[in-house]
Amino acid sequence: MQITGLISSFILATAVLAKGDRNSTGTSVKSQCRSIAKMTKLIDLANNQTELESKTDGDQTKIAEIKAKAANSTAMLSTLTSNSTLMGECAVITAHDDAVEACGSIQQMEKAVALAANDTKLQDKFDGNTTKIDDFKSKVSSMATMLATLQSNATLSSFCAVQADIESCKDISRLQKTIALANNETALTDKFNGNTTKADKFKSKVADDQAKLDAMTSNTTLMDTCNSLKQAGTTQGSASSTDNSSKGSSPAIRLEAAGNLATAAFVVVMGAVLML
Ligand SMILES: *[C@@H]1O[C@H](CO)[C@@H](O)[C@H](O)[C@H]1NC(C)=O
Ligand SMILES: *[C@@H]1O[C@H](CO)[C@@H](O)[C@H](O)[C@H]1NC(C)=O
Ligand SMILES: *[C@@H]1O[C@H](CO)[C@@H](O)[C@H](O)[C@H]1NC(C)=O
Ligand SMILES: *[C@@H]1O[C@H](CO)[C@@H](O)[C@H](O)[C@H]1NC(C)=O
Ligand SMILES: *[C@@H]1O[C@H](CO)[C@@H](O)[C@H](O)[C@H]1NC(C)=O
Ligand SMILES: *[C@@H]1O[C@H](CO)[C@@H](O)[C@H](O)[C@H]1NC(C)=O
Ligand SMILES: *[C@@H]1O[C@H](CO)[C@@H](O)[C@H](O)[C@H]1NC(C)=O
Ligand SMILES: *[C@@H]1O[C@H](CO)[C@@H](O)[C@H](O)[C@H]1NC(C)=O
Ligand SMILES: *[C@@H]1O[C@H](CO)[C@@H](O)[C@H](O)[C@H]1NC(C)=O
Ligand SMILES: *[C@@H]1O[C@H](CO)[C@@H](O)[C@H](O)[C@H]1NC(C)=O
Ligand SMILES: *[C@@H]1O[C@H](CO)[C@@H](O)[C@H](O)[C@H]1NC(C)=O
Repeated sequence: MQITGLISSFILATAVLAKGDRNSTGTSVKSQCRSIAKMTKLIDLANNQTELESKTDGDQTKIAEIKAKAANSTAMLSTLTSNSTLMGECAVITAHDDAVEACGSIQQMEKAVALAANDTKLQDKFDGNTTKIDDFKSKVSSMATMLATLQSNATLSSFCAVQADIESCKDISRLQKTIALANNETALTDKFNGNTTKADKFKSKVADDQAKLDAMTSNTTLMDTCNSLKQAGTTQGSASSTDNSSKGSSPAIRLEAAGNLATAAFVVVMGAVLML
């Protein structure tokens, strides 16, 4: 993944996001987008007699209720949808959410394909039940086309690669915190109320974490990416001074913000590319 090319777009995305949602870091825009989606669904339902009958089992009282609610939403929905700024932001948010979901689907399907191709694993997983195994195999083969389509989408692949890096950076952050805690007797005593049994158990668990962390931090490509993300998060934190300062200074939250930025930047950039 050519992350370096992406990083330059952070500045752009920061500007876009800062403009878009100064207040409450975007939750208000997000919730507006969600209500737009909800109201649209409701109105579609109210206009589809077949679906109304089947959803309510023909209960005319319920149908009347749904219709009244839908009628009541119409004005609000048209007000919201007439705001092109908001609709533009919703498009970005929806595209991002859809892409994240698609990354998850790809991962799940790839796992299923690997399982279906490994007889040892199949026997183990389905306790040697050939009915179940054949059923699973046929299910997997029926989604092969969809998986191939998703995998062949370069935009999506790049997006998922960034997404995976963001998750790794978050893991590193989490591991570092846990290890720092395990090495800090004062903090340990606080956390476990002086129970050394619990503290020792915690420490022995963390011993494994150190190896995991070392493996990740020895990857310079990944570390460069994490540093870039962190920097982007820091500049965003200082830009939106309306934010709760204690929240903004938490590395985890900053990383989270950087993650949203990275993916939002990606969608914004890709949106621009695809419109050309
Ligand atoms: C955010 O918006 C809400 C409602 O629109 C408003 O009540 C609140 O004061 C705003 N908060 C900030 C920090 O601007
Ligand atoms: C109404 O809903 C049914 C069942 O969900 C669907 O098959 C049909 O296409 C819908 N009709 C319209 C006009 O949207
Ligand atoms: C219509 O919406 C308004 C404002 O949200 C609400 O106060 C009212 O109760 C609603 N009426 C119906 C019939 O749902
Ligand atoms: C349109 O939506 C944007 C983004 O949510 C908001 O800042 C702006 O105030 C809205 N405009 C109107 C006229 O409601
Ligand atoms: C590829 O994925 C992106 C992001 O999910 C999507 O917007 C686009 O429509 C997809 N392209 C094709 C050809 O399916
Ligand atoms: C199949 O799974 C087993 C058990 O998890 C593993 O040891 C083996 O390497 C796998 N075989 C292939 C071809 O991936
Ligand atoms: C295998 O699984 C099928 C479907 O779940 C079940 O009906 C059948 O009894 C199972 N066979 C054995 C030998 O457990
Ligand atoms: C250990 O934890 C305590 C209490 O959480 C904190 O005040 C202190 O700075 C930490 N020490 C180190 C070396 O991080
Ligand atoms: C410490 O924690 C262990 C395990 O949870 C518990 O069995 C033990 O009673 C605790 N010791 C004290 C002194 O609270
Ligand atoms: C290092 O991280 C990059 C980016 O996340 C990844 O593509 C690569 O496979 C990793 N290298 C190793 C040796 O794990
Ligand atoms: C930030 O949030 C915390 C907890 O939600 C709160 O205690 C603190 O007063 C807030 N700080 C500011 C500057 O609003």
